[in-house]
Amino acid sequence: MPETRTSDKTNDKISVTDLNAYYGNAHVLKNITVSFPGNAVSAVIGPSGCGKSTFIRTLNRMNDTIPGFRVSGQVTIDGEDIYAPGTDVVSLRKRVGMVFQRPNPFPMSIFDNVAYGPRLHGIRKRRELADIVEKSLQAAGLWDEVKDRLSYSALGLSGGQQQRLCIARCLAVEPEIILMDEPASALDPSATARLEDLIDSLKSWYTIIIVTHNMQQAARVSDLTAFFLNGELVEFGPTQRIFTRPSDRRTEDYITGRFG
Ligand SMILES: Nc1ncnc2c1ncn2[C@@H]1O[C@H](COP(=O)(O)OP(=O)(O)OP(=O)(O)O)[C@@H](O)[C@H]1O
Ligand SMILES: [Mg+2]
Repeated sequence: MPETRTSDKTNDKISVTDLNAYYGNAHVLKNITVSFPGNAVSAVIGPSGCGKSTFIRTLNRMNDTIPGFRVSGQVTIDGEDIYAPGTDVVSLRKRVGMVFQRPNPFPMSIFDNVAYGPRLHGIRKRRELADIVEKSLQAAGLWDEVKDRLSYSALGLSGGQQQRLCIARCLAVEPEIILMDEPASALDPSATARLEDLIDSLKSWYTIIIVTHNMQQAARVSDLTAFFLNGELVEFGPTQRIFTRPSDRRTEDYITGRFG
């Protein structure tokens, strides 16, 4: 008999069932089944090349345009199959935003970076855009630092500021889910600490999935942790338990630094 887990099923925001992914003949994600709850931070950890980036990019179909990429299985968000024929990928990416390893501000002003998404989605009124820009920069913890230079180039910001700008740009289109692929890897320790505080403050409003190589970071910021190895999901559970009492030997070896 399947376990009865109906009570905690209700909070599942993203459910992945039997997901397989391939680049040509390379089978890089193998039978992944996992559910992520809403309004929580889930970390994805594992050695280089194990499929972390590929996995999170299947959650907003960012891999679709890679030649030779194929996926099978199911990914649902709020019960809706995102790979169903007829899915509007533009609105999917509005719901599922992404922040990358290297901050990638557009070569335009700070204001225009944040207003970019809302404009793309048809918002034209200056007043309305200004409100969205302020709100998003506030939420990203950057407003006070940039409010007097919104018309300056985003490229003049520090790395940590650029990454917070990219988060503001992501928030500006009101996503429900934010995917972060090693968002702190180009940041120094103090910018990283700010980013981690920010992630913590965003989780009441968003569902966040963060890929990180840094075990301490996973332990600090996440409620749940998924450990991947060679394209397989070895273990998924409360971060506290994964880091203190992993149920799989391979997880233990990884978190204690025996490989990877
Ligand atoms: N565009 C691509 N074309 C072909 N193979 C790819 C492509 N992107 C990734 N791969 C392969 O798929 C596997 C998983 O890669 P992926 O980038 O998802 O790993 P990762 O866990 O994110 O690694 P890292 O920690 O180094 O970022 C690797 O073997 C990689 O070489
Ligand atoms: Mg990666």
